[in-house]
Amino acid sequence: MTLPPVITIDGPSGVGKGTVMLRLAAHLGWHTLDSGALYRVLACAAQARKFSLDDEPALAELALNLDVQFIPDTASGETRVILDGVEVSSQLRTETTAKAASQVAVFPAVRTALLARQHAFRQVPGLIADGRDMGTVVFPDATFKIFMTASAEERAQRRYKQLKEKGIDANIESLTAEIAQRDQRDSSRSAAPLKAAPDALVIDTTGISIEQVVAQILTAISAQI
Ligand code: DC
Repeated sequence: MTLPPVITIDGPSGVGKGTVMLRLAAHLGWHTLDSGALYRVLACAAQARKFSLDDEPALAELALNLDVQFIPDTASGETRVILDGVEVSSQLRTETTAKAASQVAVFPAVRTALLARQHAFRQVPGLIADGRDMGTVVFPDATFKIFMTASAEERAQRRYKQLKEKGIDANIESLTAEIAQRDQRDSSRSAAPLKAAPDALVIDTTGISIEQVVAQILTAISAQI
């Protein structure tokens, strides 16, 4: 049986993967997987249960049994996330949750526990998946792999703008420091570290617009999709 096609988009935080994923999904009419949201949901669930973020076996068990629903809102393009029957969409986007997600994501047992859940998003007509290890570990057989980069300063600026637009208070210096710290943790961990798959198209988005990135990807994939 042939599996539905997958486009993977990996890269560090704040590089614009989510926006590019939504634009491509709208263009192709495909499903999306925001894998970071799974790590964020797990971090929220662990904190709600007062679990230690160092307890690998307990976190892995929790990851296997997460009661989570992703409800796409076609009007806004955003996805509502319901954990244990409660909407956690805005809690997921905070920098505190991002940091906790990066902490729980270092554990191999946690990553393994979330694999089947991620594979289940691969549905016809196709999937666009964004994260850190989509092309390297979760969907190594992806139809097309993209790796997006941008300087840490530019990513902090973009995140700052995004948060401000949502009315969330932010400080540019601490955002830059948090992004650098998270990059370091995500890239240096031994389980599925952040890195480009050897067969990925690497796009440095520093100084170029989302529209230009999307156009570049659509040209590149048109021969293969
Ligand atoms: O993409 P994001 O900022 O929502 O991800 C939050 C954290 O989750 C990130 O710092 C590392 C982790 N993560 C991961 O380890 N693997 C993924 N595929 C996606 C996210």
